Amino acid sequence: MPLDFNGKVAIVTGAGNGLGRSHALLLGSLGARVVVNDLGGSGSGEGRDATVADGVVAEIRAAGGEAVANPDSVTDGERIVQCALDSFGRIDIVVNNAGILRDKSFHKMSDEDWDLVYQVHLHGAFKVSRAAFPHMRDQGYGRFVMTTSAAGIYGNFGQANYSACKLALHGLSQTIAIEGRTKGVQSNTIAPIAASRLMGTVMDEQAMTLLKPEVVSPLVAWLCHEDCESTGNLFEVGAGWISRVRWERSEGAYFDPAGFSPDDVRSAWEKINDFTNASHPTSTGTTFQAIQQNPHLA
Ligand code: NAI
Repeated sequence: MPLDFNGKVAIVTGAGNGLGRSHALLLGSLGARVVVNDLGGSGSGEGRDATVADGVVAEIRAAGGEAVANPDSVTDGERIVQCALDSFGRIDIVVNNAGILRDKSFHKMSDEDWDLVYQVHLHGAFKVSRAAFPHMRDQGYGRFVMTTSAAGIYGNFGQANYSACKLALHGLSQTIAIEGRTKGVQSNTIAPIAASRLMGTVMDEQAMTLLKPEVVSPLVAWLCHEDCESTGNLFEVGAGWISRVRWERSEGAYFDPAGFSPDDVRSAWEKINDFTNASHPTSTGTTFQAIQQNPHLA
């Protein structure tokens, strides 16, 4: 039996274009009732246009699905969740996807470039997610997908604002995963790569043609499905490739906690940076375990 989302209600933010549109169309075609949220602004966050979300709703309905348009900004997350409750009576899935770019090299970055990117990506995802989370807890079921970026995971020239907020989204996801674990609420993060108007500003034309948003959405749908048990994880996805990314910690070096010098750190530098026998920590508890193994404490 192919996976379906019958009975489930999904919000996809920024679903008027690019990746969000593709996620909304796929979820809608698989039986989810979809709130197509999009402010309809420019790629750098100016203006608004309510008809952008209407167009995707029309596409979902034309394919036999159910959807409503919502033109609010993600910074008004409560209104988007209220739209799902008013239209369909519940909320099961939130795909935090809305995004803008305000690229500037760091020494030229204005407060406005920083604040606007923060508002849309991190604050917006917080507002929508916090409004949805209590409903998911109460019903014992929920799925979040956060959208980060390779720029967030690895950093990228000219994207200090964007990369900071994008990596923070994975932090948000990991804690929602922890707090939701016993309540049936899961959260994962994707770092997609796809041809879209946002990427158009940083990629050449040939690369754009290789990357379809439609080949990112199957991962999003799987992560939103009730059969999927993944939570707190991070995936890179694009152009027909899906991979999981995790933290890696070197064994490290131990010093006497009573006191040691910068020279001691220099002497142990190779050992600190040696990933032979590395581990893959998944919780704050592993940090305390590592500390307790300090031979100087024995
Ligand atoms: P896109 O520009 O095609 O779509 C983003 C949508 O978000 C637009 O329709 C826009 O109107 C909407 N939006 C912007 N601000 C909003 C707000 N305040 N409230 C509601 N909607 C708002 O961009 P694309 O490429 O589809 O990006 C989707 C997400 O994927 C973004 O979060 C982006 O940062 C992320 N991403 C995309 C990559 C790519 O290769 N396309 C790479 C890495 C991350």
